[in-house]
Amino acid sequence: MKIIDVKLKMNSYSIVVGNGILKDIGRYVKALKCGTDAIIITNPGINKLYGSVIAKSLKAQGLSSKVVEVADGEKSKQFKVAFDVIQQIAQYDVFKKPFVVALGGGVVGDLAGFVASIYKRGIPYIQIPTTLLAQIDSAIGGKTAIDLPVGKNLVGAFYQPRMVFSDVALLRSLDQRQILNGFAEAVKYGVICDVALFTFLEKNYQKLLSGDLKVLELVVAECSKIKAAVVAIDEKETIGLRTILNFGHTIGHAIEAANKFGYYQHGEAVALGMRCAAEISVIKKLCSPKDAVRLNALLDDMGLPKKIGKTKLSDILSLMKRDKKFISGKNRFVLMRKIGIVDVIEGVPEEVIKEVIGKNI
Ligand SMILES: NC(=O)c1ccc[n+]([C@@H]2O[C@H](COP(=O)([O-])OP(=O)(O)OC[C@H]3O[C@@H](n4cnc5c(N)ncnc54)[C@H](O)[C@@H]3O)[C@@H](O)[C@H]2O)c1
Ligand SMILES: [Zn+2]
Repeated sequence: MKIIDVKLKMNSYSIVVGNGILKDIGRYVKALKCGTDAIIITNPGINKLYGSVIAKSLKAQGLSSKVVEVADGEKSKQFKVAFDVIQQIAQYDVFKKPFVVALGGGVVGDLAGFVASIYKRGIPYIQIPTTLLAQIDSAIGGKTAIDLPVGKNLVGAFYQPRMVFSDVALLRSLDQRQILNGFAEAVKYGVICDVALFTFLEKNYQKLLSGDLKVLELVVAECSKIKAAVVAIDEKETIGLRTILNFGHTIGHAIEAANKFGYYQHGEAVALGMRCAAEISVIKKLCSPKDAVRLNALLDDMGLPKKIGKTKLSDILSLMKRDKKFISGKNRFVLMRKIGIVDVIEGVPEEVIKEVIGKNI
């Protein structure tokens, strides 16, 4: 088991990473002194798998719990659902000291964090991420969000959890596509700042794909450390460091959006975005072709998509222009210097972007 601290100016917290630790959650929560009545926000499938273990562990520590279920899928990240959840909390919250437990993947985590941030101007919450993507990325860093019809994650707040509790044993029930979805983000961490992690992934990707929990625990802990370190320096994305976490995301987000978020998983689109970003880095002579080949080889080995497929170049280009990272019309890309080092580069010529995406369609 590993404990990683997210050191912030205010509201620092720990990420607990382990294998088979869910049954101990009550003890950890009790020590936080964040309330006595847990509101576990989750979806029906995840509740069935893990809800009772958590309720039992909390009860053993004298903590009560109530489950609030939302439907599975991104559609739960909307105002109507947040409102329904808050109504249920308010009805339950009579003579209680409530805190929220987000039990699920990034969807539940983003929604539950948002709800916790606005109910009574903020009540404590804990993240129990159940997907690889959520354990290494979305549960850490305090970005909470819901979507609007015009775009994803447009409403939300920076609101840090009191603890992130990542049990890799929960990943056993995840399907292979969801595991791959998370791996793309793990590769990203290697590229942006950790060549040793990248090399580890190259050597161990088969064990990871077969669900080896020891290796998964190492990867979740290593990625959590990186995200925690970046967030500690740039909590609210004000000095730009947090931007490097978006390697592969500028084009990746546009690919997801061009397919109306229905075709590609986020990580699959990010993998395609990373391939394009690496190629742009080579064309701009920022990195050697060898590094781009190495990145593509790892993504190939893992079975992440190689080609963008039936998506219109014009759709990707126009959607990219709406990217939050583009400042006053100038594009900004996170590009690779070599595996383990990236830079934020402004004003990449449009012909280069068109050429690279066009070649990868
Ligand atoms: N806040 C952030 O910093 C941040 C960062 C990245 C992504 N996100 C958000 O995260 C969301 C995507 O998260 P995700 O990829 O985890 O998707 P998700 O939450 O939809 O989970 C994927 C699927 O796996 C199922 N599932 C979850 N855990 C399971 C388990 N242990 N066993 C079996 N099935 C399980 C879910 O029910 C769902 O069907 C998006 O909304 C994205 O915007 C947020
Ligand atoms: Zn991502």
